[in-house]
Amino acid sequence: MLCAPINPSDINRIQGVYPVRPQPPAVGGYEGVGEVYSVGSAVTSLSPGDLVIPSPPSFGTWQTYIVKDQNVWHKIDKGVPMEYAATITVNPLTALLMLEEFVTLNSGDAIVQNGATSMVGQCVIQLAKSQGIRSINIIRDRDGVDEVKETLKNLGADKVFTESELEVKNLKSLLGDIPEPALGFNCVGGNAASLVLKFLRQGGTMVTYGGMSKKPVTVSTSAFIFKELSLRGFWLQKWLSKEKAVESRRMIDKLLGLVQDGKLKYKMELAPFSDFKTSLDKTLGKLGSQPKQVIKF
Ligand SMILES: NC(=O)c1ccc[n+]([C@@H]2O[C@H](COP(=O)([O-])OP(=O)(O)OC[C@H]3O[C@@H](n4cnc5c(N)ncnc54)[C@H](OP(=O)(O)O)[C@@H]3O)[C@@H](O)[C@H]2O)c1
Repeated sequence: MLCAPINPSDINRIQGVYPVRPQPPAVGGYEGVGEVYSVGSAVTSLSPGDLVIPSPPSFGTWQTYIVKDQNVWHKIDKGVPMEYAATITVNPLTALLMLEEFVTLNSGDAIVQNGATSMVGQCVIQLAKSQGIRSINIIRDRDGVDEVKETLKNLGADKVFTESELEVKNLKSLLGDIPEPALGFNCVGGNAASLVLKFLRQGGTMVTYGGMSKKPVTVSTSAFIFKELSLRGFWLQKWLSKEKAVESRRMIDKLLGLVQDGKLKYKMELAPFSDFKTSLDKTLGKLGSQPKQVIKF
């Protein structure tokens, strides 16, 4: 393996709070990129030196050498920067699928999301923008908020609000010429999820795909009765288990193409394996908001 990220779900698996977990003792990590080192005599589709990613992603990417069946590995273009190859199968694919699977969006429509600084959030902004879809983005309050807003706007975000900026009576007045969104994404829960619901238009749908604040989603009775909102959930692992191997590889190649064309980017920090503990602390939020940690072996 060349490198692999630390994703929130990797932490959840180690914590034992994820619904699927490997049998211990086990190696962590779920996605990453490697170089083929050697192949068995019956292997025809891969050669030493090929750049490969496990697709669908699978357990145990935080190690130097992995032996798995050739079908596990998806060969990718050698020109892809390794930190992007290592991170494409979980978060960017989730962003792409959530934009396609729940509501039919047309150019000019809008979406709203919280956790907009996450890798999924950054991908949602760019993928939406490329389809002419406007994005309303909610972030946590923090120091240096202007810089974060600027970064997200440079990716294509139309509006970026901190949670405290949304403590107003009439959210619609903040939208300007952006239509009320039919689709919202929630990876935070608590107040940040309530704000996504408030932005949604009549009959809108909120898709929950994460719970970073560990706070529950609460919904008013009137949101169901009078606003007729729908609440859905998305889990990539479930989607991938529906015999989607071929389709997911096609989508991954599309996403990697966007990366190579400079049309998809997100913040990452490549760290040597010797700094693993610091990277883990950064992922756990012990050192404040940090970019995605990618470990280089
Ligand atoms: N359901 C699925 O299939 C699926 C697939 C992929 C990802 N996910 C989920 O999507 C979420 C984002 O993943 P990612 O890898 O894209 O994230 P990431 O790049 O690792 O970034 C973490 C994000 O979580 C936010 N955050 C951290 N602690 C928080 C807290 N206590 N309260 C509110 N926000 C907090 C961070 O905001 P700051 O910038 O403010 O620190 C940042 O936006 C995670 O919940 C992950 O499990 C789910």
